[in-house]
Amino acid sequence: MMPSYFEFHCPVKIVSGFKALENLPYELKRLGASRPLLITDLGVSQAGLLHVVTAALQDSEVLIGAVYDQVPADSSMTVVQEGASAYRQGGCDSFVALGGGSVIDTAKAVNILVSQGGDDLLQFSGADRIQGPLRPLIVIPTTAGTGSEVTSVAVIANRQKRVKMAFASSHLYPDVAILDPRMTVSLPAKLTAATAMDALTHAVEAFISVQKNPLSDAYAATAVRLIMENLPAVLQDGSRAQGRLALADAACCAGIAFSNAMVGMVHALGHAAGALCRIHHGTAMNIFLPHGLEYNLGRRRQAIGELLLPLAGSEVYAETPAAVRAEKTIETLRRFQDEVQKLSGLPTRLRDADVPQSMLESIARTALDDGALLFNPEDMTFEEALYVLHKAY
Ligand SMILES: [Fe+2]
Repeated sequence: MMPSYFEFHCPVKIVSGFKALENLPYELKRLGASRPLLITDLGVSQAGLLHVVTAALQDSEVLIGAVYDQVPADSSMTVVQEGASAYRQGGCDSFVALGGGSVIDTAKAVNILVSQGGDDLLQFSGADRIQGPLRPLIVIPTTAGTGSEVTSVAVIANRQKRVKMAFASSHLYPDVAILDPRMTVSLPAKLTAATAMDALTHAVEAFISVQKNPLSDAYAATAVRLIMENLPAVLQDGSRAQGRLALADAACCAGIAFSNAMVGMVHALGHAAGALCRIHHGTAMNIFLPHGLEYNLGRRRQAIGELLLPLAGSEVYAETPAAVRAEKTIETLRRFQDEVQKLSGLPTRLRDADVPQSMLESIARTALDDGALLFNPEDMTFEEALYVLHKAY
């Protein structure tokens, strides 16, 4: 079912390809920037990726004003304040974020502070609380999953209040996302699989969301096809640059799809399980995704059936009667997950992901407060969430 009205927005310039990073000086110059703060984490700098970026800036007019490489897996207000100090001390005029979701979110939050002034991030949390525009931000993802390079949100932990603060504003879109396979080629198989399954979940949940529209569908379907075609080969041989680039493109497409159509119950359950049991987000997505499709069969049978085309290809789609395509989609997804598990060890059940059974009730309760449920086709009660969690266990 298509909407009678929708909005679609993606102002991010995508620069994708082998050696795309060589365009970094040009893109900074185009934005009027010449002294960026480079934000990253220790894992990225130890993997030698920083060197690729600095090499790309050599012989250009761009000078890195400062490097902040202390972003942890879950960023916090303290980290953002440290990043802002580094920016100010370095006399910077822009940002280059090199990393995964946490690094990108940190760069967005530091940008809020230095562009709006002051040290109080809290006053900007929530929706549309930022007066723009912010300083130029170029994002170079080192994982292919979160899609943060094309979203207008950032999530930062407030450790004092033990909550995660969300920032949503059209001013938070990065100006440019540079997708270069050199940035993901050294990712271990299990992390490659987990982040790709996160991207697949963004695409699938966007495709069945109550806010789906023809444009988000196009991006979502492309993301699904690229992941199905490329993930197994990349898990067999991580050095395949063509496959790595395809996965980066897929994560970007999925990010564009879900930042417009939003995600649903799979993310609600995953956020809760992540907060309470520290299960990796991509692992949680992998575990909950088929259950989310089964749960929404009643209201989204047709859309789930249409996913069979990008999931399994035109031959399987054509030879499967329309009435059973939705079931075939779920079956195809489960077979794909088994293959991914064999190649990477990514678990498909909660019990294999160190989640204690005693936590299921708390996860169900926490999931009910998640905003993603607003966009899920079916409503979900505590009992229903618990039922899904037991099935996923
Ligand atoms: Fe996600």
